[in-house]
Amino acid sequence: MMHDDDSNDVPSTPEEDTTLETGPLSDLGDEGDSAIRDRIEDVLTSSDHKAKRHVHPRLMKMFEVAGMTASFVRAEGQYLWDDEGNRFLDFLGGGGVYLMGRNHPQIHRALGDVLTMNLPNLTVVNASVLSGLVAERLLEIGGPQFSKVVFANSGTECTEVALRFARNVTGRRRFLYLEGAFHGRTYAAMSCCGFDQLRAGIDPALPTCTPVQPGNIAQLRRELRMGDVAAFIFEPVQGMTGQRVDPGYLREAETLCKEHGTILVADEVQTGLGRTGAWFATREMGVRPDMLTTSKALSGGAVPVGAVLVDETIYDKVFSGFSTGLNHFSTFAENNLAMTAALTTLEVLEELDAPAQAKEKGDYLLEGLLDLADKYDCIDHVAGRGLMLTVYFKESASPTLMAQQKLLSAADSGAFAAAVHVDLYKKQRILAQIPGPGLNAIKILPPVVASQEDLDYFLGSLEDTLAGFYGRQGPIASLGRGVVETAAKAVGGVVPQAMPPLQRALGISGGEKKTVKPGN
Ligand SMILES: Cc1ncc(COP(=O)(O)O)c(C=O)c1O
Repeated sequence: MMHDDDSNDVPSTPEEDTTLETGPLSDLGDEGDSAIRDRIEDVLTSSDHKAKRHVHPRLMKMFEVAGMTASFVRAEGQYLWDDEGNRFLDFLGGGGVYLMGRNHPQIHRALGDVLTMNLPNLTVVNASVLSGLVAERLLEIGGPQFSKVVFANSGTECTEVALRFARNVTGRRRFLYLEGAFHGRTYAAMSCCGFDQLRAGIDPALPTCTPVQPGNIAQLRRELRMGDVAAFIFEPVQGMTGQRVDPGYLREAETLCKEHGTILVADEVQTGLGRTGAWFATREMGVRPDMLTTSKALSGGAVPVGAVLVDETIYDKVFSGFSTGLNHFSTFAENNLAMTAALTTLEVLEELDAPAQAKEKGDYLLEGLLDLADKYDCIDHVAGRGLMLTVYFKESASPTLMAQQKLLSAADSGAFAAAVHVDLYKKQRILAQIPGPGLNAIKILPPVVASQEDLDYFLGSLEDTLAGFYGRQGPIASLGRGVVETAAKAVGGVVPQAMPPLQRALGISGGEKKTVKPGN
């Protein structure tokens, strides 16, 4: 029972409840008082990054050896700035997260507002109010077959949910995935990964995952006819290979899956929300998956979040009785910050007309890249769609360039692309991506806020890099001494005659010959 005294403290009507607007967080004072701010400023420009020791020592070493050593201290839209004030054009975008650019003010404002409201969060016994709003919008753009949304914390968690639901609904064991696929790094997702190099160390992978060749409908039909396939999972444009899967193949796959009782899962973790020029690439292709996963861009680059759009009948089967409510649950999935980031992201992307901008800017880049391919014979082809483009390289007919390419590829099949990547970074201050292990390709994921000037700068810079490689400054030198020395060791074992040209190209001396005294 409430005492009279207590009741004085409790607002009698919602209008009087000022705690929603002025909770404790709003009393923090100005930004300068924040302890975390001081701590971050202390370490931001320090060369002693603890993460280099404790979090990502190998990855950071790799970039360091390649001379990619900028310390980024600020980010906005399509740019990053290092501690010397240099501006970098970010066409890597956190691996596809920053579709609307970095540190978007509307996202920051929304997150700040929600934090100051002292809202209930993760109550478990209440459905989160914000999640309903996000789900409603996702279902509007997702397609009429979807009526439910399951939230997650990452792309790979979405993959797990979709595969698990497919098993649950079909009672079958097997999954089909495409060669060249990537669906995340948890166990089932890795078992459906189309790159052996990435699966190293997880063996035994799930034994019930079978790769099929994109476009090979006869093979798919054979596999589905066996009647034991729970799900066929695919990316409409593959994140690693950059290849757009043939829409005709996917439409036929949909028909076959229906015929054989297999669940069709579209992984739009990377392609979703406008990246390829449509809200969802599968919908534009005329494909109706039973489940669709999306993540990266949904976060607004601020709070991790993933969503699985689910067909009503599948949902009903997974949650088919009164006590099945907890058949799936993920502690943090619908947290207020993630839902706020997602909701605001969807609004901002709509305001920006992200799909239309991605199409227009992507077409412009594609045209520019195809022009470069006409001029520079080391470009093999350009794959992808919208603002998700991958440039594949091949051996040039130019004798000097070809000689260096041969040396590089003896060390690693993707080494020439790595040289392009490093050159773009070091000389042109552009961040791009090496898409997958061993692929001789670079990939770009520009944000929709990239300006015309940015697009031209990228195309001009890539041309500079390639032109340089045909001239005196070949790709080997651009990779940097550290990488080449490491590669030279590897190549030297296989192709000893490669050593002198590699060393000459870099101006590395052959090293002092050690005379081993007899008896030592
Ligand atoms: C198509 C696709 N699916 C799944 C994932 C995994 O997402 P996450 O890294 O958020 O787990 C990725 C990540 O790159 C992806 O590109």
